[in-house]
Amino acid sequence: MIHPVIIAGGTGSRLWPLSRQLNPKQFLKLTDEHLSMLQLTVARLDGLETADPLLICNEEHRFLAAEQMRQSGYRDARIILEPCGRNTAPAIALAALQLIKNQEETRDPLMLVLAADHLIQDMAAFQAGIQKAIPLAGQGKLVTFGIVPGHAETGYGYIQQGSELASGCFEVSRFVEKPNQETAQAYLDSNEYLWNSGMFLLGARTYLQELQKHRPGILAICQAALDEASEDLHFTRLNESIFSECPEDAIDTAVMENTDNAAVVALDAGWSDIGSWSALWETSAKDTNGNCASGDVITHNTRNSLVRAESRLVATVGVEDLVIIETKDALLVANKNQVQDVKKVVDAIKSDG
Ligand code: GDD
Ligand code: MG
Repeated sequence: MIHPVIIAGGTGSRLWPLSRQLNPKQFLKLTDEHLSMLQLTVARLDGLETADPLLICNEEHRFLAAEQMRQSGYRDARIILEPCGRNTAPAIALAALQLIKNQEETRDPLMLVLAADHLIQDMAAFQAGIQKAIPLAGQGKLVTFGIVPGHAETGYGYIQQGSELASGCFEVSRFVEKPNQETAQAYLDSNEYLWNSGMFLLGARTYLQELQKHRPGILAICQAALDEASEDLHFTRLNESIFSECPEDAIDTAVMENTDNAAVVALDAGWSDIGSWSALWETSAKDTNGNCASGDVITHNTRNSLVRAESRLVATVGVEDLVIIETKDALLVANKNQVQDVKKVVDAIKSDG
């Protein structure tokens, strides 16, 4: 039986002004009219033999998270609440420690670690990929899911494929998190690399052993914060003074770049990380002019733009490659090719406030 672990503590700042501190992107209905990104992640498990998902998110979002999980049919799912974000290496360690609590040492429960900010269009291919990964993870491999890269993206991790272990499954020769532009281009040109999808299938104990090897400080703090956690209903609240001392680190840099025990399952499932407005434009249905409009929007002589109106009429005339996001209290107008910098706006707002 697989244990889904959903990491949902990110801030989604590149999707400002829709994604906000109190309502970040994983809780928003960005690609579906009815379901949030978190709920789509949960829905993707339908039909797989799994335990209830375990969610790890920020304390601030406990009601949103619990309500969305309840709506998805997981009223009793456990939710670990972080007083502050320390990135994914600690978040996954907390999940692993929670899962092996009170379990015999001989068992190594398999965690399916899922980010809450992905779009996957082909659910059958996604689930087939997981089935392929199960025997590898069962043999103690840290399995990641790799995507054939489409361009020299610098926002992803890159996996160099090694020898084939089984059909579509490979050793990982090298894992490089978020290379610079030049390196990303060289990896793309070599045809030897896959993008890291940011989803993993790993034994809880296997992950903790790797963390102990490469980042023992993180493991010790996570263990202590969980030992001193308080539990009410289905929430596990970490001890704040202990957890706030935890170094920030992603699983990718803490473990995946350092381990020699990783495998990759190639996945062709219409995957995308809805990390920025341009990514949302790319994956959305568009009209004949390449525009993707939602809400009360009129476009004239407008091309290849994403226009979203939440609270009033938005009209565009004679523009192209724009992202226009209108909300009640903020308006973003951006060049579609520079939307990675939207987080700079959020940084500026934070430093003002
Ligand atoms: N609980 C918790 N706490 N969750 C977190 C935290 C945290 O401190 N930080 C991030 N997350 C969650 C996010 O909500 C998201 O669901 C997931 O972890 C991944 O975090 P991102 O911040 O979106 O990572 P990324 O996109 O920059 O990079 C990762 O994903 C790429 C693919 O989308 C890496 O794994 C890359 O290698 C990968 O290519
Ligand atoms: Mg992401």
